[in-house]
Amino acid sequence: MNFKNDIILAMDLMDLLSAYEVAEKVSNYINTIKIGYPLTLAEGLKSIEVFKENFDFNVICDYKVADIPETNSKIANLTFQAGANAIISHGFVGEDSVKVCVDVADNYNGEVFLLTEMSHPGAKIFIQGVADDIAKMGVDMGIKNYVAPSTRIERLSDIRDIVGKDSFIISPGVGTQGGNPKDTLKHADALIIGRSIYNSDNPKKAIANIIKSL
Ligand code: XMP
Repeated sequence: MNFKNDIILAMDLMDLLSAYEVAEKVSNYINTIKIGYPLTLAEGLKSIEVFKENFDFNVICDYKVADIPETNSKIANLTFQAGANAIISHGFVGEDSVKVCVDVADNYNGEVFLLTEMSHPGAKIFIQGVADDIAKMGVDMGIKNYVAPSTRIERLSDIRDIVGKDSFIISPGVGTQGGNPKDTLKHADALIIGRSIYNSDNPKKAIANIIKSL
């Protein structure tokens, strides 16, 4: 997947019309949108099709899949059947659960992003301690796509060292959570940015300013 301007819009508005309006304003700057539970639970899996058909966006579903393999399979199948290009899977659940997501993605020519460490403060309590092992597991499994935090650059750099320069890292936490876009892109391949764009009075200007700052 290639990401125009190295930016993925995290669309967590909870009504499709508002989400559509923001997407329309920034569609010249990006080609990829990430949706998660807020929009999907509010409006359904049809949200995927709306962004694909109207904007030709790649859609990454941030469902942080974290269940037993049999349930992960159902979640991944429904997600790709609805047209998603990629799904984000938690890594802490272990190889068998992640492998099912990879296998289902392969059936649809889709991709899996493996979540290593999260960007919020609470991630330090549990997941940070196993994030390196999660990344190593991903490498052993041949996974090429990862999610790692922009809010802790040293951790992002550690995870880059583990997954290698040929892997692809997308990084949330830029803007509202405090991550710096330029510093993040020294270690990551693309930025995941939500509120600083969709909550802005002028999303187009907000994204243009971020791009300028790079
Ligand atoms: P904001 O509004 O903070 O949005 O720019 C960030 C988006 O990214 C999601 N998020 C994460 N997703 N691993 C993930 O897979 C993470 O560590 C992580 N941290 C934030 C968040 O749900 C929102 O959509």
